[in-house]
Amino acid sequence: YRTAAASASLPTFLLVGPSGSGKTAFATLTERTSIAQTHTSTQPLTIEALLPSPHVPASSHYRSPGDPAYERSRRFLLLDTPGHGKLRHYATASLSDPKSIRGIIFVVDAAALAEEPGLNEAASYLHDVLLSLQKRYTSATSSKGPTGIPVLVAANKMDLFTALPANLVKHQLEKAITEVRTSRAKALRDAGAALSGGEDEVDEEREWLGEGGEGHFEFSQMQEIGTSVSVVGANVLGGKETGSVDGWWEWIGENL
Ligand code: GTP
Ligand code: MG
Repeated sequence: YRTAAASASLPTFLLVGPSGSGKTAFATLTERTSIAQTHTSTQPLTIEALLPSPHVPASSHYRSPGDPAYERSRRFLLLDTPGHGKLRHYATASLSDPKSIRGIIFVVDAAALAEEPGLNEAASYLHDVLLSLQKRYTSATSSKGPTGIPVLVAANKMDLFTALPANLVKHQLEKAITEVRTSRAKALRDAGAALSGGEDEVDEEREWLGEGGEGHFEFSQMQEIGTSVSVVGANVLGGKETGSVDGWWEWIGENL
């Protein structure tokens, strides 16, 4: 049997992203064989999962199946958080203490990104997640800096014909995050000017996502804070013909 303590020490992947993107559908997929009806989450949910074969945890590449250490290494936790704007404090709380977090899975509805407000909603949430990782990195006291936390942008619902393909999901999000970044910087400057009655007093470095320069935001800029961002398309529901979540398992395996 397993003790609560043993399961508490398992590597954790945090599931975040806008409401309705499929986080709970993915989390419960790992537990059930039949499709569970999901509805808007109001509470976080922790699910103990097992990396399905043939995917291999990166930490176990040299172990053989059947080895108890190998079997142990396939276990991890998925922490599913509510995506509704008023319930994001659950995700924010986990992000502000990311010691136990091995990776962040940001689930988006790839069809919702094709239009507004879906695109802006996803982009501003993702902007905030990345900014909190950056703050964690830049405020670290150790000279080595904290280990970077990788981010998977899980582009879900590829079974829908209106879904953007993964390369467009990446492009659209980078473009929309560029806009979020610009408008946040302007809001900060305005607030700073209003407070001091003068020019900007706000420490922009800390609030500006990515490289200090102007111009386009790209996920690759997150390499500077040790965070790799991958965009992988899949569909949790809708059948194997249009794809599966294999790409997501593979990413989890690479980080497990
Ligand atoms: P919150 O809990 O509100 O943050 O949402 P969530 O991200 O947990 O979304 P949830 O898993 O509840 O899924 C929302 C809806 O999308 C449900 O009706 C799912 O059945 C549906 N859904 C999830 N994955 C897919 C998919 O791959 N394709 C399609 N077509 N629908 C999906
Ligand atoms: Mg949910």
